[in-house]
Amino acid sequence: MALPVASRTPAPPDPILGLAEAFRADPRPVKVNLSSGVYVDDTGITPVLPTVLEAERRMLATETTKLYKPIDGDAAYRAAVRDLIFTPGHEIVAAGRSATSHTPGGTGALRVAADFLVQEGAPRTVWVSDPTWPNHPQIFGLAGFRVRPYPYVHPGDRHVSIDAMLAALAEAEPGDLLLLHGSCHNPTGVDPSQEEWRRIGDLVEERDLLPLVDFAYQGFGDGLREDADWLDAIARPGRELLIASSFSKNFALYSERVGALTVVAKDAESASSAQSHVKVAIRANYSNPPSHGAEIVTTILGDPALRAQWEVELAGMRGRIHENRRVLVEALESRDIPGDWAPLAHQRGMFALLGLSKEQVAALREEHAVYVVGAGRINVAGITKANIDPFADAVAAVVGK
Ligand code: LMR
Repeated sequence: MALPVASRTPAPPDPILGLAEAFRADPRPVKVNLSSGVYVDDTGITPVLPTVLEAERRMLATETTKLYKPIDGDAAYRAAVRDLIFTPGHEIVAAGRSATSHTPGGTGALRVAADFLVQEGAPRTVWVSDPTWPNHPQIFGLAGFRVRPYPYVHPGDRHVSIDAMLAALAEAEPGDLLLLHGSCHNPTGVDPSQEEWRRIGDLVEERDLLPLVDFAYQGFGDGLREDADWLDAIARPGRELLIASSFSKNFALYSERVGALTVVAKDAESASSAQSHVKVAIRANYSNPPSHGAEIVTTILGDPALRAQWEVELAGMRGRIHENRRVLVEALESRDIPGDWAPLAHQRGMFALLGLSKEQVAALREEHAVYVVGAGRINVAGITKANIDPFADAVAAVVGK
């Protein structure tokens, strides 16, 4: 007996990626997968973006080595990510008080952030929205944090329950980590208004919290800059925070695992010192980052023509998701499915939360071969002409029961 006893009982499947495996194994000829957050075109394909193909062509023609990357990634990549987050000349950039590290995906950024904070002796409480992405509590729980929920969306009116959220966070202790979704909240698709962001920023100051902004969907809501509308409310002059970026979605680089952790400190010296500790967390975790995805992002963002073309491609994905929202609402309303579906049309990003019971979600899967996450989170970016009718028919069948 060498392995821990607990490991002899299989772990439950991952609540999101486990569904993709179950979907693949489902032999039924008509099946619908709206589980994990992956963009598809109307033929059901997740294409490689033309700008990505062009960047790869250039990289193949010029590559000379496969040497290790620096622990925190190449300087050009780190600067490109910084400039995607902050407006040109932003106080944080001008003061040099941010430091970005290249990480394997947004998940890698979150885990590095957690390890860095534990390593430095930070308070080990993280506040997460209820509901949130199921991997958030898992990442921080396994890194040694106590995970506390704050209410997020009012079940009735599908808006941020700002008063309840702030009341719960009034219990937070100075230094507690506050996990916020920068845009396109996962799983609800409901984001704070400007005024609500301002109130959240006020609370961060009053309670002296450390915000960690999970910024995985920049450009999938209203636009690259529009989706950073949280920035000035949260990143106020002199305040410290962490930002986890992902390029899985906006560059469709899912399998390349490319993201970044940005530490914003009170001044340049503190940022540089914090970065040296982040590098320790990285070195002890995966040593240094995989290069391919970051080279692609750097090539595209560093070439004005490619960058302009990428922004058009991104706008195309965003536009299709908006249109899918309209199609979804129409399909649900035209079947007279009980519920207030209209607000789904105006939410942001890949996800919509239908608010189904466990039994209804199980019936969708078992009786209709329709795969959705948790309380009926659907990947709106996965809706196509071919799957919208079987999907809406199945929802009508299980909600009408
Ligand atoms: C999702 O929420 O579906 C995506 O972020 C994919 C993932 O890793 O869970």
